[in-house]
Amino acid sequence: MLEPHDHLIVNNLNVSRGEAHVLFDINMHLAPNEIVACVGRNGAGKSTLLKSISGFLQADSGDVQSHGHVLTGLRPYEVARLGVKYVPQDKRVFSDLTVRENLELGSYASGDYDWDPVITYFPKLQILMDRKAGHLSGGERQMLMIGRAILGRPKVLLIDEPTEGLAPSIVTHLKYVFTELSKSASVLIVEQNLPLVCAISKRVYALKEGRFVAELKDDQVRTDVCEHYL
Ligand SMILES: Nc1ncnc2c1ncn2[C@@H]1O[C@H](COP(=O)(O)OP(=O)(O)OP(=O)(O)O)[C@@H](O)[C@H]1O
Ligand SMILES: [Mg+2]
Repeated sequence: MLEPHDHLIVNNLNVSRGEAHVLFDINMHLAPNEIVACVGRNGAGKSTLLKSISGFLQADSGDVQSHGHVLTGLRPYEVARLGVKYVPQDKRVFSDLTVRENLELGSYASGDYDWDPVITYFPKLQILMDRKAGHLSGGERQMLMIGRAILGRPKVLLIDEPTEGLAPSIVTHLKYVFTELSKSASVLIVEQNLPLVCAISKRVYALKEGRFVAELKDDQVRTDVCEHYL
């Protein structure tokens, strides 16, 4: 059921990669302050979905809307400027640049030079300011990527497998950060970490071979996701 105040609406989205049709008639929505998860096996199309929403891949048909703007057909930087930020799966940072320089690029792109929220969520980045991003651990790099993404105070955050390969203490910290971020934004996370999904998401879309096969809510999330969709 679509609500007029939804932060993100995806209508009948179809996406191909090369010759392969990867996403089929995807419909979804994100309400303000919601943390929604998308789960599915390897190759199900989860990253393709986030890349299509954020402008990195173009759809064959269908559309994506946010706050009355149609995002479909826009370039990634235009989508970002409309408050929809994407944190890719591959933890891509500018390796030869320091943490500070990476954040400066984020500030330049977003026009937001207030780093207080970034440091509040990730105090460790303050200590690492002059370290080259290529020398960060996986967890530190994820902090930098999410920190950079929250510059500009986005309304929608799309985060692809944020905890993949990270130590439990960092996963616990990210869980806290996502919950805090959802007080001012909608968060869509692609995750394979079931305890995390169950702890923070009240709604989960299950993707199988490019199609949403279920939308799970509340208690169903706890039981059905584990049994059927991963
Ligand atoms: N660059 C690409 N070119 C062509 N096909 C691709 C490309 N990247 C992914 N695909 C195909 O698109 C389909 C969906 O891939 P996608 O990366 O979206 O899946 P995923 O659910 O994110 O998987 P994972 O859990 O491994 O990250 C797969 O069949 C994959 O082979
Ligand atoms: Mg993926």
